[in-house]
Amino acid sequence: MIIGVHNHKGGIGKTTISAHLGLRADQRGIPSLMVTLDRQGDLMRWYSDERQLDPNKPSKRGNITALYSPMEQPPASATGGFPLVVIDTPPEAGIPAIVTPDLWICPVDNRTAIESLAEVVPAMTEKAPCYVVFYGADAGGINTLRGLQEATRLIPDVEYHPEVIPHSPAAFRTQAYYRPVWDVPHGKGTAAHHLMVGLCDAILKRAGFPEEKR
Ligand SMILES: Nc1ncnc2c1ncn2[C@@H]1O[C@H](COP(=O)(O)OP(=O)(O)OP(=O)(O)O)[C@@H](O)[C@H]1O
Ligand SMILES: [Mg+2]
Repeated sequence: MIIGVHNHKGGIGKTTISAHLGLRADQRGIPSLMVTLDRQGDLMRWYSDERQLDPNKPSKRGNITALYSPMEQPPASATGGFPLVVIDTPPEAGIPAIVTPDLWICPVDNRTAIESLAEVVPAMTEKAPCYVVFYGADAGGINTLRGLQEATRLIPDVEYHPEVIPHSPAAFRTQAYYRPVWDVPHGKGTAAHHLMVGLCDAILKRAGFPEEKR
């Protein structure tokens, strides 16, 4: 199962969501290959002490293998052995042409992001279904949400995560520590913690991983 995380708008939560997906899968004992197509390779920081930026040297931590693969989807020979492959992408318009996932995750935070996503969704849905996440979308309150819901009419052929993942100080701190929101100071037990776990589990479920027994 290959999951591509993409929106060609920048700074919208792609890397944060990708990183949490790998860490949640790790908690659940699902081995994953986490790939960053971004030349900056920020995702690597989450999974190795040194930022390993050599496409020939994957780094391994727990159930997670991380691979720097600038602007190239690794071949099936590299991804085939992993039940879960997550591809974090840079905010570039040509991504749907070079990534072929089984499922796309598309974070959007405001109306402009939805409008810009509408331009690339046809190229994306040609390859795989799109699961759209309202991410950091509640800063403007109910009117923002209404605007988002209206704007979603622009892209009818996608699925939506039923909850909004809020903008939160704990989630913001994750990139200071490169730790998940449940592991940063004052992160455990917050709404952001529960909503992030809920998002990761919903994505894993949509990707065909059976739900965890509680
Ligand atoms: N839920 C959140 N609440 C507050 N801040 C957040 C949240 N999620 C992510 N951030 C912060 O927003 C910034 C952008 O997040 P991130 O790097 O995940 O976006 P991106 O889409 O991968 O960006 P790029 O397009 O540059 O690759 C980071 O500083 C991150 O810590
Ligand atoms: Mg990123």
